[in-house]
Amino acid sequence: MATFGDVENLDGLDRLCFARPWGREAFGQEIARSYASILVVDGAFHGLAASICWWRVADEGEILRVATHPAHRRGGLARRLVAECLRRVQGAGCDRVHLEVAARNRAARGLYAAMGFREVGRRPGYYSTPLDDAVLLRWRGDGRRSEGSDL
Ligand SMILES: CC(C)(COP(=O)(O)OP(=O)(O)OC[C@H]1O[C@@H](n2cnc3c(N)ncnc32)[C@H](O)[C@@H]1OP(=O)(O)O)[C@@H](O)C(=O)NCCC(=O)NCCS
Repeated sequence: MATFGDVENLDGLDRLCFARPWGREAFGQEIARSYASILVVDGAFHGLAASICWWRVADEGEILRVATHPAHRRGGLARRLVAECLRRVQGAGCDRVHLEVAARNRAARGLYAAMGFREVGRRPGYYSTPLDDAVLLRWRGDGRRSEGSDL
């Protein structure tokens, strides 16, 4: 689990992976939140290879961010982190996890589809840099298909 000592490295990884990085302050806030969790995978030399941030509120989870350093991609790190997040969230009594992903983010959509997330809605034009729709995805721990839009 990430601690305040990881903020600099989390920020460094985030800047490599996102057009709109969160910034150090936001990572500090996430680490301080009782309902937020951040897991990291250390890089081979320095910095982080991958990270995931999620919330657990009541009986629902929400994945906010998954990032793998460009030098470590397609090695299964994000798959491992998402699987661990789902295991922990389910272990804490949640059987639904939501997230939003940019429609044109092929890598992330491939990842979440591979992990069993299903599309349950769409927000047209939700992202502005670059302009894109947000696709709402849901995973269900009870194995039921996530169809419809009863989020
Ligand atoms: C999306 C991201 C986290 C994937 O990380 P990764 O560690 O490379 O992913 P994995 O190696 O665990 O891949 C797991 C599966 O995701 C899918 N996937 C990953 N990258 C993909 C790509 N470029 N194109 C298509 N599918 C892809 C595949 O199904 C893959 O399984 P496979 O390798 O057996 O085919 C990474 O590309 C990234 O950091 N992107 C920038 C940040 C981002 O968009 N995060 C997600 C939104 S919060």
